[in-house]
Amino acid sequence: MSIAIITGASAGLGEAFFDSLLERETDLSGIWLIARRAERLEEMAVRSSVPVKVLSLDLTDKASFRALEECLAAEKPAVRILINNAGVGELANVADSDWATQTRMVDLNCGGLTAVTTAVLPYMQAGGFIVNVASIAAFAPNARMTVYSSTKAYVLSFSKGLREELRARRIGVLAVCPGPMDTEFLTVANITGHSKTFQRLPYCNPVKVAKGALVKAAAGQAVYTPRLFFKFYRVLAKVLPHNWVMPLCKT
Ligand SMILES: NC(=O)c1ccc[n+]([C@@H]2O[C@H](COP(=O)([O-])OP(=O)(O)OC[C@H]3O[C@@H](n4cnc5c(N)ncnc54)[C@H](OP(=O)(O)O)[C@@H]3O)[C@@H](O)[C@H]2O)c1
Repeated sequence: MSIAIITGASAGLGEAFFDSLLERETDLSGIWLIARRAERLEEMAVRSSVPVKVLSLDLTDKASFRALEECLAAEKPAVRILINNAGVGELANVADSDWATQTRMVDLNCGGLTAVTTAVLPYMQAGGFIVNVASIAAFAPNARMTVYSSTKAYVLSFSKGLREELRARRIGVLAVCPGPMDTEFLTVANITGHSKTFQRLPYCNPVKVAKGALVKAAAGQAVYTPRLFFKFYRVLAKVLPHNWVMPLCKT
């Protein structure tokens, strides 16, 4: 009997991961959903074929990590799948923004992901896997999303390092790097109507991204970049100096 945990489960890609797990991972004995909006998570729980535990936690708040730790210690679940999906962005030059907005991205995308992973790892089973949601923004710095792209570079690097550490325990780690997806993220990050680059780029379908990521993670892959266009960009950002790539990927 084993469970899956999804962070940022109340919308967009997190919700798509929930539906993909219900469709694909039929031997799970439970799913824990984490986000701030408990009512959204409760609504989702109704369509689940397995028991769902709703954890209304703000993953920028250290008290939430202690609450998660206490929950884990009380229930001692065997965790087979951890999906670190919660994330936030902001389209603005650093100088035109404020410290609270900028550090929120670091706190959630880096701090929250690291804290949840560290808290859950003692309960993870051999043969299980972790999916960390990065972004194509991880491949090169994106001006006007400088902090966001830096946090996603952290997620990608953290995932690769952790994968090596967990090899002996037979726990896989996949970093998924999607391009733009039409989710609440675009409004929350002030992107809608404010970025020509986002208007020009091809979009990824969150349902396809979630399904693909679960298939690749189960197969033991390290990095998954949906869509050929973005696979090509990943190679380009790897072989060319970032000074050449950055004007192309300015948001
Ligand atoms: N959409 C894109 O274009 C795009 C592209 C590449 C990568 N990504 C990444 O994909 C992931 C999912 O994003 P999405 O597009 O699905 O965005 P979304 O629809 O805005 O979903 C974000 C999720 O994170 C949760 N969240 C936000 N702040 C939180 C906090 N402080 N504590 C706990 N949970 C929090 C939200 O739930 P609550 O508000 O209920 O807390 C929500 O469930 C993110 O890591 C994002 O960086 C997105």
